[in-house]
Amino acid sequence: MSTQRKDDHVRLAMEQHDTRSGINQFDEVSFVHHALAGIDRPQVSLATTFAGISWQVPLYINAMTGGTTKTGVINRGLAIAARETGVPIASGSVHAYLKDPTCADTFRVLRQENPHGFVMANVNATASVADTQRALDLLEADALQIHVNTAQETAMPEGDRSFGSWVSQIEKITAAVDVPVIVKEVGNGLSRETILTLRQLGVRVADVGGRGGTDFARIENGRRPLGDYAFLHDWGQSTAACLLDAQGAGLPVLASGGVRHPLDAARALALGASGVGASGVFLRTLLDGGPEALIAQITNWLDQLAALQTMLGARAPADLASNDLIIHGTLRSFCADRGIDTGLLARRSRSADVLHDSTGRTR
Ligand SMILES: Cc1cc2nc3c(=O)[nH]c(=O)nc-3n(C[C@H](O)[C@H](O)[C@H](O)COP(=O)(O)O)c2cc1C
Repeated sequence: MSTQRKDDHVRLAMEQHDTRSGINQFDEVSFVHHALAGIDRPQVSLATTFAGISWQVPLYINAMTGGTTKTGVINRGLAIAARETGVPIASGSVHAYLKDPTCADTFRVLRQENPHGFVMANVNATASVADTQRALDLLEADALQIHVNTAQETAMPEGDRSFGSWVSQIEKITAAVDVPVIVKEVGNGLSRETILTLRQLGVRVADVGGRGGTDFARIENGRRPLGDYAFLHDWGQSTAACLLDAQGAGLPVLASGGVRHPLDAARALALGASGVGASGVFLRTLLDGGPEALIAQITNWLDQLAALQTMLGARAPADLASNDLIIHGTLRSFCADRGIDTGLLARRSRSADVLHDSTGRTR
């Protein structure tokens, strides 16, 4: 059942990707243009460090597949692209392997093709500590992702409706494993309140996994004969909204969900993310053009992200978090209701120093 489900997810996610329309709140975030802020390209680094984790680039391939023959082939392609471009990569949920170890190779290929890369193993919030350790061992993983996905489970025909143990199980897993734990949503977002809870549980990083891209409530509803959970489509907060909400919450955040191009990545970093993940857009490229096409796309994204940092005067990705941002439209309303001061964001480069070099001012 769960293996068939994974092939369904790939098919439905790609159908959704090809037909997606509607608002993406990253379009409601713009940089204030400072014409003299630019620096020299050799001064720019893409390296990012957070929660004791160091990545050479702030981009990663987020959790998707494994468990079936078809998704094993996909994982091989993703792993090759990760190896060739140096981006970190997460497995899809290792649940399928925990239920049926005969599909181990469809996950292990992530490590076999990418022996020196940063690999994350993905489990759900009900996994036992022993099973979580099996998932980590299978991939020789550098970090653990625990996904939280109540909207997906609610719309899923065979979904789990017992969410009450998730907090205590996340705490148990976090205390037991010796790699950093990242808790991620799958496209419905993490609120500030959730992030504060995760921090209390000892979780090291939150991947906000917001709305705007792949919509799992819609995917699961597409698997229901009656499609009767359509009212859950587009549930939750966008990735941009989550990042704004998470400011000052005291936990490093990663941004994923609806990231379409390098400017969205730069926007996410400017909103405080330490790294930016994409899934659907990379899967589409891999399925259309194979690993070579994905390598070219990721290489181009990294090059263009460095170009944006050069123009914006950000020596490192983290420096983008001092750039002035204007928040527009529906995202601005979200900020008003959540008590987030958008005026401060629009002028924040001034507060750093009167000589702040990202604005090019010289007084
Ligand atoms: C085909 C597919 C399968 C996925 N499977 C998982 C999974 O097993 N575990 C998980 O945490 N997230 C899974 N995701 C969710 C992604 O990691 C990500 O959170 C979500 O797709 C939003 O990012 P995007 O808009 O860039 O696609 C999957 C996404 C896709 C497209």
